[in-house]
Amino acid sequence: MQGKIIKLLYNAQDYVSGQQMSDSLGVSRQAINKAVKSLKEKGFKIRSVTRKGYLLEKFPAVLCEEAVKCYLNTKFIGRNLKVLDTVDSTNDYLKKLAEDGAEAGIVVLAREQTAGKGRLGREWVSTKDNGIALSLLLRPELAPGEISSITPLSGLAMCRAINDFCMLDSRIKWPNDIIVGKKKLVGILTEMAAEADRVKYTVTGIGINVKQSVFPDDISHKATSIMLETGRHIDQNKFVAIILNYLEQELVLNHYSLGGQAAADYQKLCATIGRQVTFSRGKRNISGMAVSVNNSGELDVMLSNGTIATVNSGDVTVQGIY
Ligand code: BTN
Repeated sequence: MQGKIIKLLYNAQDYVSGQQMSDSLGVSRQAINKAVKSLKEKGFKIRSVTRKGYLLEKFPAVLCEEAVKCYLNTKFIGRNLKVLDTVDSTNDYLKKLAEDGAEAGIVVLAREQTAGKGRLGREWVSTKDNGIALSLLLRPELAPGEISSITPLSGLAMCRAINDFCMLDSRIKWPNDIIVGKKKLVGILTEMAAEADRVKYTVTGIGINVKQSVFPDDISHKATSIMLETGRHIDQNKFVAIILNYLEQELVLNHYSLGGQAAADYQKLCATIGRQVTFSRGKRNISGMAVSVNNSGELDVMLSNGTIATVNSGDVTVQGIY
């Protein structure tokens, strides 16, 4: 009901009387008053004027379910959305919900993570309200070997959201980082649970640096934030909705597969292609020129002897980036 009230006020862009609200939502005036009070406590600025009604003046500065939903155009992604104050890891939290039968499309956001995880067992730091930690549950009807497109398609969606909403020129550092210039802005971690021939679910976790104005010395040469790149504070709720809109578009319209136009778009946005890269095979480090990303999301690297090596996981160092 709080979500419906906010939508009503947002769409009206003017005063809406308590009577009008109670008529269109089919609840009492008292229930409306109570819900408006709760919304104010969540950070919405709602003016109440006798004989005029309510006017929505401002959205909360912090992440808030009703605010995100106001801008959401999706069919299923984020329709069920939870915002947590603090959690160990949104990915771990969502995996538990998935095991308990949660439906595809549910999104968990946290204002702080105490044990955020990155790829390859690394840590992802999410201090209070500085960044966005978002996890999305999917249940694609795929075999375990077919989910490798989820991270690249999510990367594509992230670039589109950042470039549209923040007016930046972000690019993808294969396989799971979004960079601006030579620095990392976003990290993506997709985890899955599967049986031998069927994916039970995937959880895609996205960590975005938003408000940081400085980073610790050891990462300041390779990390950046939206604040550092634009000099502006963004409306995090609107940004999250735009991200979810693009995620649904890229994942669902492309049937969870990086082919056709999505593959071409990915190549254009991939900063790794055309650069010298170094990757490891067993104990050896191998270098070559990244030439393309194939339809399974793997990186094709041309070696000095002219052969192509296909890299599908692990760590890749890209010359000129980090
Ligand atoms: C990486 O860069 O290695 C991936 C970082 C992924 C971080 C996000 S934040 C939301 C979700 N919850 C986690 O614990 N990790 C992902």
